[in-house]
Amino acid sequence: MNENDLLQQAAALPPGRVTRLEIADQSYFVKMVETHQRLRLHVTKGDPAKALAREVGLLRAFAERGAPVARVVAANERHLILADHGTPVEKAVRKGEVSDALLRQIGSTLADLHARGLAHGRPVLRDICHDGTRITFLDLEAGAKLNARDHDMARDLIILIYSVMMSTSANRDIARQVIEGYRDVGTEAVWQATCRRSRKLWWLELLARPGVWLHRRRGKKRSEMIAIGATRALIASY
Ligand SMILES: Nc1ncnc2c1ncn2[C@@H]1O[C@H](COP(=O)(O)OP(=O)(O)O)[C@@H](O)[C@H]1O
Ligand SMILES: [Mg+2]
Repeated sequence: MNENDLLQQAAALPPGRVTRLEIADQSYFVKMVETHQRLRLHVTKGDPAKALAREVGLLRAFAERGAPVARVVAANERHLILADHGTPVEKAVRKGEVSDALLRQIGSTLADLHARGLAHGRPVLRDICHDGTRITFLDLEAGAKLNARDHDMARDLIILIYSVMMSTSANRDIARQVIEGYRDVGTEAVWQATCRRSRKLWWLELLARPGVWLHRRRGKKRSEMIAIGATRALIASY
């Protein structure tokens, strides 16, 4: 099916942020321009049409460099149609249903993206897909960079490790596999920058303390507060 036909099909979909579209045995994901009516969101998140256009531009630029990001099949001002890249790894990681090989592949695929001089911006597990063979990164937002420095790549790696530490309680071993995978392919300079950046985040851990206390008291299983200290401790253990 050609791009215009696909865009027409996308336009006929009921409103929603991201919808799966199946046509002639092919599966796609359609991302629509966000329609946040509330002024507050408009102020904090900016112009949604611009945000979509920006993402399309970034995805195409990343693809030109051969980066493992979602493939743009078609796009206009209102719709972005992407190839289907499988299932997000988050749930499987949370349930402990992922092999060490896959965990390492997540790390090494981020290193591959970095090797092309790019930074993703926010590589969290819900935006990392697996199709049985390949790992693909979705959702390029503010923070994605075409001329990334070690510092930006370190930020990506910390966010990825943090996302793992938040998703499951058996996270240390899982996160270690992801780190090993990254270090197999990535540069030592980025790893050193990651250690430095993580050391500098002591203030964040301090800020999270009341939250940690509260979550421990409530016996919360997955805590974004506790994960901060856990992430820093894990990185420091190398
Ligand atoms: N190309 C794709 N392949 C597979 N899943 C996708 C794809 N695009 C989006 N998704 C699913 O939809 C979710 C939301 O998409 P995302 O691009 O992250 O939108 P948002 O900006 O609203 O977060 C993803 O976390 C993923 O589960
Ligand atoms: Mg997302």
